[in-house]
Amino acid sequence: MIGEAFYHTHTAMGRAEEVKIESNANIKDPHMAILKIARMGHPVLARAADPVESLQSREIRRLVADMVDTLDDTGGVGLAAPQVHVPKRVVVFHVPENRARAIAAAEAARNGEDEGGETEAEAVPMTVLINPAIEPLDEETALGVEGCLSLPGMIGMVPRYKRIRYRADSPDGSVIEREASGFHARVVQHECDHLDGILYPMRMDDLTTFGYSEEMGRDELPLGERMRRD
Ligand code: NI
Repeated sequence: MIGEAFYHTHTAMGRAEEVKIESNANIKDPHMAILKIARMGHPVLARAADPVESLQSREIRRLVADMVDTLDDTGGVGLAAPQVHVPKRVVVFHVPENRARAIAAAEAARNGEDEGGETEAEAVPMTVLINPAIEPLDEETALGVEGCLSLPGMIGMVPRYKRIRYRADSPDGSVIEREASGFHARVVQHECDHLDGILYPMRMDDLTTFGYSEEMGRDELPLGERMRRD
C-alpha cells in the first residue's frame, strides 16, 4: 500500500532501520546532539536558505552530524537544515531497506490498476547533500503520500517528478551526481524544497487529500487507494 510510503511519520512506521553511514557522511563526532524541529509557520521554514561556502568548516561538520543524529532519532527518511533552524543549503536523507521493500510491495500489489503511483523503490544509504540542484529528466509526475517532521501527524498526496537528476557537494569535498526515480526522487524533491521555503502542502493540487494520518487511516484503506476509489 502506498500508505507505507509515509515520510517522517515515525509513529506510523516505527524507528528507521539501522542508519548506515557511507563515506560521504563523515560524522564521527563525540558531541552529536538531537536538534529541535521547526514547525510550519516558523519563519526559518519560509525563507530561501543560504548556500554553504565552506564545506569542511567545523560549523558544517557539526551541523551534518547533528542532522544525521536527529534524523535517526525521528525515524524519518530526510531532514533539511532549515527544519533544525539553520538556514543553510544542507539536506540529509536515506531510504532504508524496509521502507524500500514496503513501497515496492505496495506497487506490485497495485500493478494493473493504474499507473499513477511510485513505480520504483530502491534503498539509498545515508546521504548528505550540500548546495544541491535538481533537474527533472522529463515532465512525468506521480502522486505519493508525504508527511514532514515540520507538520507532525499530517499527510497528503503530493505530485512529484518521477525521474530527476541531482547534483550536490559532499562534506568530503567530492561531488555527488545521481539519477533517481520513484521514492528516492520524491524524497530528494521534498527535502530540497525546504531549502527554498516550500513545504509539501504548497505542492499539493488536491487539499482534500491533506489531513491527520490517524484520521485518514480510519477506513483502513491506504490513502492512495482511497483517492482512486472515491
Ligand atoms: Ni519535510
